Amino acid sequence: MRVLLTGGTGFIGSHTAVELLAANHDVFICDNLCNSSRETLTAIESITGRRPVFFESDIRDARAMRGILGDNGIEAVIHFAGLKAVGESCVKPLAYYDNNVSGTVTLLEAMQATGCRTLIFSSSSTVYGTPQKLPLTEDHPVGGVTNPYGRTKLIIEKILADLCAADAEFSAVCLRYFNPIGAHPSGLIGENPNGIPNNLLPYVARVAAGVLKEVNVFGDDYPTPDGTGVRDYIHVMDLARGHALALQYAAGRSGWDAINLGTGKGYSVLEIIRAFEKACGHPVAYRIAPRRAGDIAANWADPSKAQRLLGWRAERGLEDMCATAWNFQQRLLSGK
Ligand code: NAD
Ligand code: UFG
Repeated sequence: MRVLLTGGTGFIGSHTAVELLAANHDVFICDNLCNSSRETLTAIESITGRRPVFFESDIRDARAMRGILGDNGIEAVIHFAGLKAVGESCVKPLAYYDNNVSGTVTLLEAMQATGCRTLIFSSSSTVYGTPQKLPLTEDHPVGGVTNPYGRTKLIIEKILADLCAADAEFSAVCLRYFNPIGAHPSGLIGENPNGIPNNLLPYVARVAAGVLKEVNVFGDDYPTPDGTGVRDYIHVMDLARGHALALQYAAGRSGWDAINLGTGKGYSVLEIIRAFEKACGHPVAYRIAPRRAGDIAANWADPSKAQRLLGWRAERGLEDMCATAWNFQQRLLSGK
């Protein structure tokens, strides 16, 4: 299939590109490089032997999007492009609504104009807000989101549902990711955020590498077994495979759907630090810090819908997630 990955040079997009190229799809990427670099294209080529067709453009550029979709006969879009820093979204909400929500509307208009009617959207477990029960199933109420970033995900999900209601041929699948971590086993692609990482894993990796001093564990008084926050960490390679399967699923149907991509198992912050210590072979310094505003105590997925509809389930465990993240971090430091 001829597939466009918006945001395809980013963390999850690049791993998905590798997966799709391996499955013989024709991969096109459009990215404005606000949080990634062109070097990722070379890394993807080194891994797969094929280089995606790349357009440096912004999803908010209506003319460019129509051109990319129309000129290349794109049959489906996997829409990763977006800003994703929760804290920044509270400081610059308009930038998030503009980039994520307006950008998605512009992309959808271009899809409509060029007759492309299949979309996979990068949603998030954040749409569930504070869980009323665990594990989270897709019919858990959405809402109660505590930050503008999360609200953009919820709004986009609703926009897609409205579009599917209006256009009987449109197919939109919202993949609600839990916490993606890890890297490709080659160490050539992985998560490399600019500046101080917001997310736990890249922060732990930099402390392990001696780039940062210690991990701040945000709260040890949650109602969880060791008092620290519990999340469903999922290997980015499993997530990438989920996209390839979701693409087949979405292409063969119409209408709106939402599917969790998680493992079904939660780990605490301290368990993650211990697992990383095993992977890197030395202690990782940490201190207990105050809770971070907006954090929930725990969430993990019920992934059975993905198993039922896509035949997907996560296969890689925490050990592999930490080992590949560490391998990627070491390659970054060595500059190879
Ligand atoms: P990422 O920042 O590595 O990738 C996003 C890519 O989109 C980047 O390459 C960036 O340059 C590009 N981009 C941003 N705005 C753009 C625009 N207007 N036009 C074109 N390109 C643009 O992030 P990621 O972790 O790979 O996340 C991918 C998607 O998954 C995002 O939508 C994110 O919100 C969502 N998501 C991520 C997580 C996570 O923990 N990583 C969890 C849930 C959902
Ligand atoms: N944490 C720390 N110290 C840190 C960073 C995080 O203790 O330096 C803790 C958090 O308090 C939380 C856990 O580690 O308990 C995970 O935090 P992350 O920031 O890595 O991830 P979140 O669960 O807060 O959010 C992530 C993404 C969101 C996404 C959500 C669900 O950042 O964009 O997963 O997919 F919506």
